Amino acid sequence: MALSSRHLLQLEGTSKEDLDLILDTSVGFREILDRPIKKVPPLRGKTVVNLFYENSTRTRISFELAEKRLSADTINFSTSTSSVKKGETLRDTVRNIEAMKIDMVVVRHGSTGVPYYLTQCLDANIINAGDGTHEHPTQGLLDIFTIRQKYNKIKGLRVLLVGDIRHSRVARSNIWGLKTLGASVAVCGPTTLLPYEAEKFGIDVYTNLDEAMEGVDVVNILRIQLERQKAGLFPSQREYSNLFGITRERLKRLNKNFTIMHPGPMNRGIEITNKVADGPASVILEQVTNGQAVRMAVLYLLSNVDAHEDKAIE
Ligand code: CP
Repeated sequence: MALSSRHLLQLEGTSKEDLDLILDTSVGFREILDRPIKKVPPLRGKTVVNLFYENSTRTRISFELAEKRLSADTINFSTSTSSVKKGETLRDTVRNIEAMKIDMVVVRHGSTGVPYYLTQCLDANIINAGDGTHEHPTQGLLDIFTIRQKYNKIKGLRVLLVGDIRHSRVARSNIWGLKTLGASVAVCGPTTLLPYEAEKFGIDVYTNLDEAMEGVDVVNILRIQLERQKAGLFPSQREYSNLFGITRERLKRLNKNFTIMHPGPMNRGIEITNKVADGPASVILEQVTNGQAVRMAVLYLLSNVDAHEDKAIE
């Protein structure tokens, strides 16, 4: 089995077959992470560039470890130490990097559409590690993998995303992937942090958290992007925390065997209390471990798709 595209740009429009293939392949790689020696040879001889134009802890380290565990050669590019500081354009930067004979590019950028743009100027496989407010497909996949690992299914589960949905690329990737796999998806946040006409995503939209949490299996809590607080999108952190913070008291509205998720980085005491973040239903660190397995699967599967087989990007 092979993926239908040689790039991973978004989960919107990604088929159920491709999602299932990535998730099923991730299971084998997750087992490798529990072995004493966590290295396998599939990407031996391939060179992967991690092109991060925005800050990252989890995604960058996770991709680098995934590449190394697949025996790829890896290069880490960061804008602060590159000629981007001297005014070099994105196109010139990536074409110069490709001239050094690289095979795959993992890219994070503050602007929506940069990963797609790279597919138009490079021959390498492109993996989106987060672009603007658009998508963060490997985060969506690792969240879905973590849910599937616990419940052995996605179809029929009720998943609630809480917080800044409007600016969240994690939310978008979760919504598209979960819906394709048959979950029932709801979002909750202040009106100012919900996407315009969010109902058109085919999801349930709430501004009252206690109502939103009724009958939910999985709560995925999104980071309040404190850098946007200057824009006055909610009156105060204290008010946000009172209305939308996930506390232990609120958990009793959830279904039995519920799960608490957060993609990180967390603002403890604002969107999530310590007791919830570190409580028995939290899979937050399991998400991070699973992220490596999912990224290994994505790198492995994309490296096996020939350019002429790519049906997704014309
Ligand atoms: N979840 C996530 O994307 O975290 P980083 O910004 O640390 O990569």
